[in-house]
Amino acid sequence: MFIFEGSAVNRGLLIAIFLCVLPAYAGPVEDAIEDRIARVGSVCVEGLGCASASVSSGGGGAEGPESFYSVSCATCHAMGIANAPKFGDASQWSARIDKGREVLYNSVINGIGTMPAGGTCANCSEDDLKAIVDYMLDALE
Ligand code: HEC
Repeated sequence: MFIFEGSAVNRGLLIAIFLCVLPAYAGPVEDAIEDRIARVGSVCVEGLGCASASVSSGGGGAEGPESFYSVSCATCHAMGIANAPKFGDASQWSARIDKGREVLYNSVINGIGTMPAGGTCANCSEDDLKAIVDYMLDALE
């Protein structure tokens, strides 16, 4: 896309993307803090239903590939920003899939082109990144 030509534009774009992604990191942290405060100081008033509420196992399930994808990767891949292959668009992925899954995993782990190493997911392990790639490729079928 012509508007993304030139590294100055790309750099500006990346900064803009990081600014958009930052609040998304802050959200879950605030939720976790509020969750903890609420649990320690919670008062159960009869009739509110809290006495029968099940205790959560500590936010399990909130860190699956799908949520990692929407927090870290969708910024670029949902719309195809900076020529990122678009989520769910098989025609944009076919040449990449031909390279093999391992190559794609390594591209995300180490970064490729405009995509930074780890695809901006600071909390993702290598296994998390691989699981997100699997999730993205599964969406093409
Ligand atoms: C800042 C924008 C941006 C973010 C955020 C981003 N990507 Fe990308 N991604 C790109 C671009 C651009 C390319 C194409 C790079 C190229 O081929 O030069 C790409 C390519 C890829 C590819 C194909 C690599 C290859 O070898 O062909 C995969 C897989 C991928 N991204 C997964 C992810 C995952 C998983 C995340 C989140 C953890 C992520 N991306 C986050 C921009 C981004």
